[in-house]
Amino acid sequence: MAVKTLLASIPPSLHSSPAMSSARAHNFLPWTVQNTQDNVVDIAGGEGIVFWNSKGEKYLDFVSQIFNVNLGHGNRRIIEAIKEQADRFSVANPSFMHAGRALLGERLKDVTPGNLSKSFFTNSGSEANEIAFEIARLYTGRQKIFAKYRSYHGTTLSTLTTCGDPRRITLDRGQSGSVRFFGPYCYRCDFKLKFPSCELHCASALEQQIIMEGPETIAAIVLEPFTAAAAGYPAPPGYLKKVREICDKYGIVMIADEVICGFGRTGEWFAINHEPVVPDILTVAKGITSGYVPMGAAIVNETIAEHFEDKLLPIGCTYTGHPLACAAALACLDEYEAGAIENGRKMGDIFSTELNAMKERHSCIGDVRCQGLFACLELVKDQQTRERLVEFNTSPPLVNDFKVECFRRGLYVYMRWNLVLMAPPLIINEAELRDGLSRLDEVFDWLERKVRG
Ligand SMILES: Cc1ncc(COP(=O)(O)O)c(C=O)c1O
Repeated sequence: MAVKTLLASIPPSLHSSPAMSSARAHNFLPWTVQNTQDNVVDIAGGEGIVFWNSKGEKYLDFVSQIFNVNLGHGNRRIIEAIKEQADRFSVANPSFMHAGRALLGERLKDVTPGNLSKSFFTNSGSEANEIAFEIARLYTGRQKIFAKYRSYHGTTLSTLTTCGDPRRITLDRGQSGSVRFFGPYCYRCDFKLKFPSCELHCASALEQQIIMEGPETIAAIVLEPFTAAAAGYPAPPGYLKKVREICDKYGIVMIADEVICGFGRTGEWFAINHEPVVPDILTVAKGITSGYVPMGAAIVNETIAEHFEDKLLPIGCTYTGHPLACAAALACLDEYEAGAIENGRKMGDIFSTELNAMKERHSCIGDVRCQGLFACLELVKDQQTRERLVEFNTSPPLVNDFKVECFRRGLYVYMRWNLVLMAPPLIINEAELRDGLSRLDEVFDWLERKVRG
């Protein structure tokens, strides 16, 4: 009997409203009240930097789906690698080793900075951070994890209640062990200072807080070298180095969360590479497989790895080092090495120049923060006063209207509060980049008319 193929059993289109209603009746959507999310895209395919819905309407993907499809849609090298591995074998006990997993561990050691040398593979960024927290606790014998107020580290209970993102608030049951601090946010400095005359006061304040908390109780400081969804900004020069010094001084594990900013997103392999700093643990996900198969990893330095040579590592999960994910990741590393990171860096220069020029044309853009192909535009009512166009942690209709206007012009961007975040695939070419930017420019014309009348 012929095997019914998967595609034959999936209805070709969800664009009729009964089909979408039925889809939504049986699927939760994340981060939303279920009956209020409009404009759900029924993605039906993609190629390069474009994806389309089941009506065939195309969109320039200026978010790489959710900051993960670094190498664009439909990448043949990744697809063939997954297929080839599936034909050999698709499943492996997590306590078994296999060739793809062995090679991936070695290659990650080579591309990550300093003495980061041993990976614990997971299914997601949340799990990678969760594992990193546990490893830091086991290694130091301490409990507390420090995280910035403006940070997001995942959706598992420990990562969500540790991070500073307001998404934590509804789930925060006062779990012990999470301490939050004010990090550098130069556009709206919490200490009302200016960089560089502030001499990185925020780092000194962090040290003061550590002393008050009791350094002997603190296992780790976790932070993104480029803060992504929580505020969209790179660390100011010197900040990461100061955090490294503080960690060394008090025996605290430094965890760099590179779930979004890793694998070329900011123009370097990892965003931490912009400073001469090596974290003790570096966590990755998203770009490691360009999103083709779920995967994350916590990559630890030699000293931490050595610690577990004769001590129990009481952590595991069924899909550690999944063969299909390893195959996808190895193909991605090939693509990054073959020029994707270099291209992203070059396109990032154009991106930054053009977005800054856009700020000159549109007074509702208060700040442009761009590193490589990662950009955040902070929208304001007035460039001088910096009053936010949309209040922190609110989502008035204007936010949805902005997204709809982008969609109407075939452009997909991420908007949250008054922040517009963009991260096009690293393989984008100049014509595509300029095309997306000119669509965005039109949306800002629309926004100016809407808010200024
Ligand atoms: C910085 C950062 N860390 C961790 C995560 C969690 O990753 P995942 O959604 O794969 O669990 C995210 C997700 O967006 C993230 O942005």
